[in-house]
Amino acid sequence: MTTMSATEAAEAAPVAPPSTGAPAKGSALETAHAQLAAAVGILGYDDGLHTMLRMPRREMHVAVPLRRDNGTTEVLHGFRVQHNVSLGPGKGGLRYHPDVEIDEVRALAMWMTWKCGVVNLPYGGAKGGVAIDPRQYSKGELERVTRRYTSEIMPMIGPDNDIMAPDMGTDAQTMAWVMDTYSVAKGYTIPAVVTGKPLAVGGSLGRGTATSAGLVHVTAAALADAGVPLEGTTVAIQGFGKVGGHAAEIFAERGAKVVAVSDQYGGIRNDGGLDVKRLMEHVGQTGSVVGFDDADAISNTELLALDVDVLAPSAIEGVLDEHTSGTVRARWVVEGANGPTTAAGDTILAEKGVTVVPDVLANAGGVVVSYFEWVQANQTYWWTEQEIAEKLEDRMHRAYRDVADLARREHLSLRDAAITIGVQRVAEAHQIRGLYP
Ligand SMILES: NC(=O)c1ccc[n+]([C@@H]2O[C@H](COP(=O)([O-])OP(=O)(O)OC[C@H]3O[C@@H](n4cnc5c(N)ncnc54)[C@H](O)[C@@H]3O)[C@@H](O)[C@H]2O)c1
Repeated sequence: MTTMSATEAAEAAPVAPPSTGAPAKGSALETAHAQLAAAVGILGYDDGLHTMLRMPRREMHVAVPLRRDNGTTEVLHGFRVQHNVSLGPGKGGLRYHPDVEIDEVRALAMWMTWKCGVVNLPYGGAKGGVAIDPRQYSKGELERVTRRYTSEIMPMIGPDNDIMAPDMGTDAQTMAWVMDTYSVAKGYTIPAVVTGKPLAVGGSLGRGTATSAGLVHVTAAALADAGVPLEGTTVAIQGFGKVGGHAAEIFAERGAKVVAVSDQYGGIRNDGGLDVKRLMEHVGQTGSVVGFDDADAISNTELLALDVDVLAPSAIEGVLDEHTSGTVRARWVVEGANGPTTAAGDTILAEKGVTVVPDVLANAGGVVVSYFEWVQANQTYWWTEQEIAEKLEDRMHRAYRDVADLARREHLSLRDAAITIGVQRVAEAHQIRGLYP
């Protein structure tokens, strides 16, 4: 087998051209555009401002040549998109997943913008990704991918212009490699270039569980608005990764009954409530929830249709669409994942009277504690776990109240209210700053 040098590989890389057409039907970007259009309609903005709010500010498509452990060379596609930087640096995760493509990254970056607006952070929205299935690569290979990707997008990132965090398929170790690669290039240690990094290199206490803790806070707040206590509530969670796994733990700690969970390999169910602690050990040993002894097997599709109080889709985009939304029997859908409900799915859920607590609010706890981590790294002064937990709870409750109050006042869904708040905060910054030149 012949091998290429990195330079040859980079030159040969078939980097996909930017997609300029309309987003694919049912895609994350189509959903994101529909949500923005609804908010623009509510706010009465003109076409020019609508286009400004829709178009990403900057994008990079990069070839990421990888020398595999067996000596061959492979070239991966990498992306970084800054959707908006009017309120501060771009902020958003880095995703490693085989389906990563530019339009998905654009949608995720746009959602980050509105999310930072909803929780009132001084950030714009960004997102990055590499089309790779991380489970098929060794740790050394993933390190090389991460370092090469980081050096390719170096002109875009930095603690003052674009700050990465973990997303699907990446973790604290990935962030440590990004931070090290960036710091080596600059000549000194710059922890604030990423968040979600290990504590030993300037991470924040509470970051690992922040998204899930925030999700449980807003679930409790939404239930309380309907006079329902969290304790005793039945919960089904799709996805048992960083978001879904910790959410299951925290729901159980707070007295809710987690009756079903799933991952990409399948799902499990126990109507009496899963023993989440033991399940965590099982996942630690086997890598999946499948095969847990104290539960029955179910499919991901069956999980979405379970008769539970709360359904928390916490894995991937687009799972609640025109086919599956009609089967949902939960009273609340709380979106741990980004974009789990398509625009068509949203309409069906609204017709059924299901309350959807949208992603830009429900999973914003992660970026809130990322913000705390960035503030701490910039000050080189670290807070206690209790300070972080209290500040997170306070932010999530305030954001929920802002969204729920607007929804009630203007007869909007929680999603329309949340996106409207996010869009309005960004548009106000555009208008006050003015258009250069
Ligand atoms: N990690 C964060 O702090 C954070 C913050 C906000 C939003 N999110 C969003 O939450 C979602 C999950 O992210 P994560 O960080 O937990 O990722 P992760 O990689 O840690 O976990 C993903 C989980 O989803 C499962 N999964 C993947 N494909 C699936 C499929 N087709 N069907 C069912 N399950 C599947 C995986 O098996 C795994 O259990 C993503 O949409 C991400 O953008 C994450």
